[in-house]
Amino acid sequence: MENIINITVEDRDGTTQTIEVPTDINLSLMEILKASEYDILATCGGMALCATCHIHILNGGDGLPAASDQELDMLDTLPDAATESRLACQLYLTDDHDGLRLKIKGTLQ
Ligand code: FES
Repeated sequence: MENIINITVEDRDGTTQTIEVPTDINLSLMEILKASEYDILATCGGMALCATCHIHILNGGDGLPAASDQELDMLDTLPDAATESRLACQLYLTDDHDGLRLKIKGTLQ
C-alpha cells in the first residue's frame, strides 16, 4: 500500500514489534512512536532540547537526513549516545524508510 511503511521498534525491555507508519501525514517519528503507545516523555515537545526521544537506528537508516548541529549538540550530552543515535523528534520518515529498525533509548525521567 502506498504511503504506509513498516518499521520495527525495540522497546527498552527488548520487546520488539513492527508498526505501520503513514508517510503522508506530517508527524515526526517521536509523534508516531507516542501514537503507537510507546512511553516517550518528549518533555520539550519536539524542539531537540530534552533528548527523551533518543533512539538508536539499528538498521535501514541510510536515507535519513544528517543530524543538525542542534541535534548533535543534544546527543553529545547523553552518556549512552552512539554513532547510531538520533532524536526521534527530528526525523520524518518517507516511503524510502520501509524496513527501518530502531531501539528506544530515551529516559523516562
Ligand atoms: S522530544 Fe525533546 S528532544 Fe525530542
